[in-house]
Amino acid sequence: MNNLDEEYDLFKKICNNHVIENNPENKLICEKIINKGLKLKLTDSGYCLTNDVIKLSKDQIESKLSAETIALIQELEVIYETDSTNKCITDKKVDFGYTILVAESQTHGSGRRQNKWASPLGENIYLSVQFNVKNNNNIHFLPLITAVSICKTLQKSGIVDCQIKWPNDIYLKNKKLGGILVESRYNSESGHTIVVGIGLNINMHTNQEIDQSWTSLFNESNNIYDRNTILSDILSALINQFEHVSELDTQQFLLDWKALDYLNGLKIHIVEDDQTYSGRALGLSGDGALLVECMLDDQMVKKKIYSADVSVKKNDKQIK
Ligand code: BTN
Repeated sequence: MNNLDEEYDLFKKICNNHVIENNPENKLICEKIINKGLKLKLTDSGYCLTNDVIKLSKDQIESKLSAETIALIQELEVIYETDSTNKCITDKKVDFGYTILVAESQTHGSGRRQNKWASPLGENIYLSVQFNVKNNNNIHFLPLITAVSICKTLQKSGIVDCQIKWPNDIYLKNKKLGGILVESRYNSESGHTIVVGIGLNINMHTNQEIDQSWTSLFNESNNIYDRNTILSDILSALINQFEHVSELDTQQFLLDWKALDYLNGLKIHIVEDDQTYSGRALGLSGDGALLVECMLDDQMVKKKIYSADVSVKKNDKQIK
């Protein structure tokens, strides 16, 4: 057994409520696990969890997927740790359908614009889905479609007030709950291969590393969520959407977006490559850009934004 296998083994035992004897070997492993973000306490009998942790399980995730969805999955792997699931999944070749990677933790989780994505052990969802696209139609909508699918899935599980902050941040009660990082590569044999990476804060209680306003499902409800159930629901929804992306009904999609749009009508601050300005968000345009009304060269204009960092002005909502 290598060191990480030993750690994973002990992590699973702790999640199954075993108390881990405090001997020198276990102490070393428990300290590593604590450094990765799992909350353990040392009692007279040994190390144990401070809060319940439901570990990720491939069987649990698959047991809730339909036979049709399973048939479209080439491989679903659950691992203990990787640098980044988006990076690691590119080692897997996609012969058909989808390859899926889920990790208990990431050492170098990455976000949009080279931001770091906090990925403590055993608390959240770090998921990457990889597939080839036969037809490039609508692929620029993939990040937006992913965000809408996630929000709708969460809403079905009772998290009714989640929203999307353009282009694809998942928001709950004015705070960031999750993010999406879509990457693609081209190969003349298989065409475009897409990796959709999703980070969702599920059972995280605290985190000193994050420098923006964030939340988790636990922090909003005081409930510990089973990540396996959420993962099955999200995977079912995403695979269903990705299968039909080339036939996307754009009009219906724009309506779905409008119902979830966090920015709509708000005063926003926009940081585009070389310029910074303010405006009012007017929703999504038919090609996936953010429509804004703003003053440019002393004129009020409507403008489409394709890539920018957008934040809500403080007087409209009390947060970033
Ligand atoms: C963002 O909001 O900046 C996007 C965050 C995306 C994070 C996820 S976690 C799973 C996958 N692996 C990564 O390294 N990043 C994505």
